[in-house]
Amino acid sequence: MTDIQIRTKDTESIIKDILRLKEEKDAVILAHNYQIADVQDIADFIGDSLELSRKAATLDNEVIVFCGVDFMAETAAVLSPEKTVLLPAPDANCPMSDMITAGELRVLKERFPEAAVVCYVNTSAEVKAESDICCTSANAVKVVESLKEKQVLFVPDRNLGRYVARFTDKEILPWEGFCFVHDRITSDDVMRAREAHPEAELLVHPECRPEVIDLTDHVFSTSGMIKHVCSSDKKEFIIGTEVGILHRMEKDCPDKSCYPLSSGAICATMKRTDIQKVHRALETLTPRVTVPEEVAERARMAIQRMLDIK
Ligand code: 13P
Ligand code: SF4
Repeated sequence: MTDIQIRTKDTESIIKDILRLKEEKDAVILAHNYQIADVQDIADFIGDSLELSRKAATLDNEVIVFCGVDFMAETAAVLSPEKTVLLPAPDANCPMSDMITAGELRVLKERFPEAAVVCYVNTSAEVKAESDICCTSANAVKVVESLKEKQVLFVPDRNLGRYVARFTDKEILPWEGFCFVHDRITSDDVMRAREAHPEAELLVHPECRPEVIDLTDHVFSTSGMIKHVCSSDKKEFIIGTEVGILHRMEKDCPDKSCYPLSSGAICATMKRTDIQKVHRALETLTPRVTVPEEVAERARMAIQRMLDIK
């Protein structure tokens, strides 16, 4: 028997056991669009941050296994404090969310007391607790437009903040954070990809730099991209976000051809989850993510205010 056959047999038995444990523990598996193929394939729901937050808020299951990064599992724990929320890879952090602390945000709020605070969902629960409202890449413009304040502190993603500023008369003051995966995609990458695939439409994530956004055909959240590719009459697409999304596109829209804008767009921490870790998490009900109730209570207000926007 070859190595590949042995691995396949192992994988099959792990998947079988995951299905058994899910039933036994009343668990549901949520996965972000950037997760590795094996993890996406065993998930009950795959989505972008907004879809996964909405899902986490409505599920009846006692256990939520969150295959993504820490702020996503924290958001689920804030919305469902009575549930057991598991993050199979406890070191799966989002480097951008670590670029602002609650203390830094408090100092900023003192400097701009009239401003509303919008925090990207890619933040810690402590930062959410200091914010008026949360947003994701799918609803950032709507969220900002829903506010009565004229001035908005937008944390932590400067690129998403600048993208939102294109669509509003409000004064947006972005924090200087960024996602290293999207921020390192360049205009040269766009030129090269357009030359290689002249018929393809270009879709990029709003975490990309303004000069990349200037060159694109459309800007979407990760699930927005998948919906667009599946429903469009076009056949070819260049995808400007983390490459894990291409697996979902291949599965959901097999008749379309999708090419990465940058094959180096890989979020290492999103890739720390594998099916072995999911299996272990279900078996042991660890590592569990919890948020102290005094923080969760205030963070929940910012998240719920966002979810209330239809
Ligand atoms: P989406 O909400 O668009 O899935 O984005 C999440 C993220 O982390 C992008 O880097
Ligand atoms: Fe964070 Fe960027 Fe990874 Fe998304 S892709 S989880 S923003 S580091």
